[in-house]
Amino acid sequence: MDKKNDIKPKYHIAPKAGFLNDPNGLVQFKGIYHAFYQWLEEVTPQGAKCWRHCISKDLVHWEDKGIALKPDMWYDKNGCYSGNAIVFSEKIYLFYTGNVRKENGDRETYQCLATSEDGITFKKHGPVVYLPEGYTAHFRDPKVWKDEEENIWWMIVGAQTIEKKGNVALFWSEDLYNWNYKGNLLPDTMNWGYMCECPDMIRLGEKYILIVSMQEKKIENSIEKDSCHAVWMSGEFSKEKGTFTPYKEGIRVDEGFDFYAPQSFVDENNRTLYMSWMGGGEYDYQMSQPAGKDGWLHSFTYPREFVYKNNWLYQKPIKELEFLRDDKVEKSIEDEEVSLEVKDYYKEMEFMLNDQNEFKCTILGSLKLSYNSSQKILNIKRFNWLTKEFDEKYLNINEDLKTFKIFIDNSSVEIFINEGKRVISSRVYFQNNSIQIKANGKLKLNLWSYKGDNTNE
Ligand code: FRU
Repeated sequence: MDKKNDIKPKYHIAPKAGFLNDPNGLVQFKGIYHAFYQWLEEVTPQGAKCWRHCISKDLVHWEDKGIALKPDMWYDKNGCYSGNAIVFSEKIYLFYTGNVRKENGDRETYQCLATSEDGITFKKHGPVVYLPEGYTAHFRDPKVWKDEEENIWWMIVGAQTIEKKGNVALFWSEDLYNWNYKGNLLPDTMNWGYMCECPDMIRLGEKYILIVSMQEKKIENSIEKDSCHAVWMSGEFSKEKGTFTPYKEGIRVDEGFDFYAPQSFVDENNRTLYMSWMGGGEYDYQMSQPAGKDGWLHSFTYPREFVYKNNWLYQKPIKELEFLRDDKVEKSIEDEEVSLEVKDYYKEMEFMLNDQNEFKCTILGSLKLSYNSSQKILNIKRFNWLTKEFDEKYLNINEDLKTFKIFIDNSSVEIFINEGKRVISSRVYFQNNSIQIKANGKLKLNLWSYKGDNTNE
């Protein structure tokens, strides 16, 4: 098959076959990165999910290790749902949700533990947390982290209260097996949708940042095709009260068309990295994607590093991507339109703009970007394979657009604006073989293809 038409990302985690959703259990253990993903053998979002395992030395080349957890016990028989991993006393501890459906269709939920000494085989220990009072069975996705100061472990679990409001439940433990319920983490005076999925607590220096993937009702006539989205907020974490008080409403982690359920971890170099599911949306939208017809569906984003500065959560592409770069190609464009051919299939494109600039860029017929410096608005259009029309977003950049980085890995496109202040991730299936750029004013471009990505292979 002509490599140019290959739609599967090459340096991202994507299933060989079957369906992928959330990242789970991201961890570095004895130098090796481990990642798991929610997986089904069939290309459909519905079914009893497994944890599929892959490993990497450099975060860009991944080796599939097969299924680590399958739904084969009474407490997880309808799905080993999302959760995270930590390393403690030479072992990996996986925390996950056991999803159970009773005969009458009612749901049960158990927060479960599995451990591994070799990083390859996982032993299940069963439930360690049962559903506390005050919540519906929409209670899942444990995230555990160590509190070095208090010498305890915290666990947060995504929840829906019996009032049908989203929140996050907080637990603590001294030994990872026995957990004490502390209470609702978030103030119920704010809106967290009808369920918070995949909560994540991040510590960057002295700052605590909470991320939740909010499920909300779809807003009538909204341009958003899906009302589920991940938001971050910095705030005050009171260990005594067991509460997190956000300074303001959540801000979208990523403003693309396909992004949900990000999960972070701290690696052995003390970087706070994360990956996210580059997918989501309604059933029909997911099933309309060309990848599904090739027998696989969805991928993760590239791993990114979180950095907190000037009261903002920045995202940096990991530096490991730089090791993949081939020679740099530089171009300057001024008041003209150029067309780059796909034979030079660029994996990474960096745009540097002067203050007075307007540009338009069409990537392979399916992604259109246009920016106007007087309004500081970026318009993004992406071809939607379900509606056969372009979805559209306007991003108010609120400051000058200075740099703009685009990472393309077959059907995966990630855009980092102004050093990662804003990020846009989307699946893009190409319709032609060129990248067209039109600039009013001066635009400098750096382009890289990646080693080993021979398009004529
Ligand atoms: C989020 C989610 C999680 C759940 C998992 C099931 O996408 O719904 O809440 O654990 O996916 O696959």
